[in-house]
Amino acid sequence: MSKPFYITTAIDYLNGRPHLGHAYEKIATDVIARARRSLGEKVFFLTGLDEHGQKVQQAAQKEGQEPQAYCDALAADWKEFARQLQLTNDDFVRTTEPRHKAVVQAILAKLHAAGHFYKAKHQGFYSVREETFLTEKDRRPDGTFDPAFGEVIELVEENYYFDLKQHQAWLLEYLEAHPDFIRPTSRRNEVLGLLKSNPLEDLCISRPVARLNWGIPLPFDPAYVTYVWFDALVNYLTVPAAHGDPTVLEALPATGLQPSSPETAPSLWPADAHVIGKDILKFHAVYWPIMLKAMGLPLPKQIIVHGWWQKDGARISKSTGNVVEPLAVIQEWGLDAFRYYVLRELDLGPDGNWTDAGFAARYQAELANGLGNLVNRSLSMLKRYRQGVVPARSDELAPDAAKAVAATERHWRDHELQGALQTIWALVNRANQYVDQTAPFKLAKDPAQAARLDEVLYNLGEICRVLAVLLWPFIPTTAERIYAQLGLGASPGRFTEAAWGGLTPGQAVGEPAPLFPRKDLVAK
Ligand code: MSP
Repeated sequence: MSKPFYITTAIDYLNGRPHLGHAYEKIATDVIARARRSLGEKVFFLTGLDEHGQKVQQAAQKEGQEPQAYCDALAADWKEFARQLQLTNDDFVRTTEPRHKAVVQAILAKLHAAGHFYKAKHQGFYSVREETFLTEKDRRPDGTFDPAFGEVIELVEENYYFDLKQHQAWLLEYLEAHPDFIRPTSRRNEVLGLLKSNPLEDLCISRPVARLNWGIPLPFDPAYVTYVWFDALVNYLTVPAAHGDPTVLEALPATGLQPSSPETAPSLWPADAHVIGKDILKFHAVYWPIMLKAMGLPLPKQIIVHGWWQKDGARISKSTGNVVEPLAVIQEWGLDAFRYYVLRELDLGPDGNWTDAGFAARYQAELANGLGNLVNRSLSMLKRYRQGVVPARSDELAPDAAKAVAATERHWRDHELQGALQTIWALVNRANQYVDQTAPFKLAKDPAQAARLDEVLYNLGEICRVLAVLLWPFIPTTAERIYAQLGLGASPGRFTEAAWGGLTPGQAVGEPAPLFPRKDLVAK
């Protein structure tokens, strides 16, 4: 079986409800997955939940629940959230699933047997929030630790360590030789800087059960559970293994997982892209590659690092109430408006800022008055002046469309989602300008201009159709509604449909209906 384009998101901690940052990452990944599918590629898109560790255990305790019961109840909400975002994920991994535990334990056993771990005592300062020992480098000039570390306690503990240092030179060399491994370049430079300036600390991969029992037991020492990050990163292999990926199962024969049908088992690993936020770069760009090397598995092809959202210029935080509730926004404005705004406003890379006013402004100008108005008036004129029947083909706007189609494909392939939307809106604006320039409402009054009116109406209908194809990965429901309003049975989800001339002369269009109702009208 040919290898699908395998793309993953970070798996979210199950210690609260999904917020804007989680939604953004998942939608961006979904758009990349849909764009690849539209281009005819096979895609496997994975997302899921990170359910072990202290954060989740404490959240369950606060609710007075057993961690597993707490996770099961919340996981149902998060899966429903993925459905409401219309994510097209092919699997949903939970780190408390037996298949995941089997893979984590097989890896631990393999690396232990190969001598990658050693046991040592460590005395130091420990951040409860970050679940990690702090080093002298984490101190501020006045000797205190950043409040971001939360409660810091002094601890003496014996644990298992993963010998990272010996792989540092190899990793540096690998990064130098693979300039596209981490995107954007600023993030790559951050990792290069880190590797060049400091010897890597060995990674503590265990937690004593006496302190934390909500985790996967070490197969070689039941007095310990696995450090949550070692556990979580493995999710990217769990699902390939569970689906019978031969590369993963050969490297980890001890999982006990069997492909249900070896002939159709997909070759997923290595992942083509891990999409993650900037705060978890070191885990993905340093620990994960070294873990994979130790397992004898190839590295993912790319790590795409996105920035963080703020709201009104301040950190999103439950405690201060500075939050965006994705579901409330979706309820009020529609899913596609939300999907559009987050990707149009924030490119994959830099940080962004949500403002309600900015959202409303984009909705009004770009969705309602831009795209919505174009589709609505194009279809209404076809109905009014040609009884809803597509006139003879005309290619006047074909070169504009072809340019936008080619540029959009380039943007999709480079994961430039904001750039794609800018390109697509240049075509929306061009088409709205075309209406103003050709003034079909004037042409309609002059019978001598009937042939010219036919041309204009064909071009407008066809532009709407092409736009639906380009927009489908971003705003799939809207794209499908445009197709339905044009009376087309096919789906706009195939890029080949973007070729000019898809509307057939003589074909009847459907009923126009506003795609993005103007909010002031709705409120009345
Ligand atoms: N569980 C770990 C990830 C393990 S991946 C093997 C984790 N979970 S998280 O819930 O804290 O974050 C999940 C993702 O959401 C991360 O990629 C993180 O960067 C992203 N975001 C969390 N808050 C965010 C914003 N305010 N803005 C954008 N993305 C943010 O880390």
